[in-house]
Amino acid sequence: MVECHVKERVMTSSTQAYGEPWYWDNRYTNEPGPFDWYQKYITLAPIISLYVPPTQRILIVGCGNSAFSEGMVVDGGYTDVVNIDISSVVIEAMKSKYQDFPQLKYVKMDVRNMSDFESESFDAAIDKGTLDSILCGNNSRQNATKMLEEIWRVLKDKGVYVLVTYGAPLYRLRLLRESCSWTIKLHVIEKLASEEKSDQPVWELTKPVPLNDDGTSVEEALGRNPDVHYIYICTKEISANSNTKP
Ligand SMILES: C[S@@+](CC[C@H](N)C(=O)[O-])C[C@H]1O[C@@H](n2cnc3c(N)ncnc32)[C@H](O)[C@@H]1O
Repeated sequence: MVECHVKERVMTSSTQAYGEPWYWDNRYTNEPGPFDWYQKYITLAPIISLYVPPTQRILIVGCGNSAFSEGMVVDGGYTDVVNIDISSVVIEAMKSKYQDFPQLKYVKMDVRNMSDFESESFDAAIDKGTLDSILCGNNSRQNATKMLEEIWRVLKDKGVYVLVTYGAPLYRLRLLRESCSWTIKLHVIEKLASEEKSDQPVWELTKPVPLNDDGTSVEEALGRNPDVHYIYICTKEISANSNTKP
């Protein structure tokens, strides 16, 4: 089963369009932004810095007009952040906006076919809302698998795919495991629109949530339907999984 309720809405003809390039071109023409889905860099910085050192070469898939990459450079000290998006409208706008930032590159590219990038050429890939969007479109399962296989291909051995999503383990674990042989850790962050920290978070951000095979351990730790975004840290460990699929 593939579910789609980006921004907590169940699938309608408009959320289904999140999988289509024309939707994003229209949206970025009408809403130049900046706009960050789910979380801003500042709230995720502790977890990003835990798994992704600033000297690494980073790929941001489906960057949109988010200020996340700017935050990585200005606040996090990252020096090589390559951003791709399927929308030429947003890529042209971001190229122009960040022309004086040599640390940021913007390239129009479909995450399902990144053949312009060599295999094993990135240390980390970060996805905030892009897999979720693709899961809303037609042929969602097939497209999601292509996307995950391409991310796997461009990552170096021990590289990490950081997936920030509203998708609970019940929905995301199977998809991740069936596409590639990731080693997966899970973190969660509260769905706070503001940058203020809640006094008592449901779970400490930098502490992995216990994760068993079917994800039922997550409900035991956090309760049913916790108000969180999920952060899957998927590591490509070729040596640990040498006799399996990508
Ligand atoms: C929900 S938005 C997230 C934007 C940004 N990552 C953020 O956090 O604000 C999803 C983004 O994925 C992009 N996208 C959708 N399908 C794509 C594809 N096949 N290849 C590359 N980008 C895609 C859209 O254009 C859009 O910018």
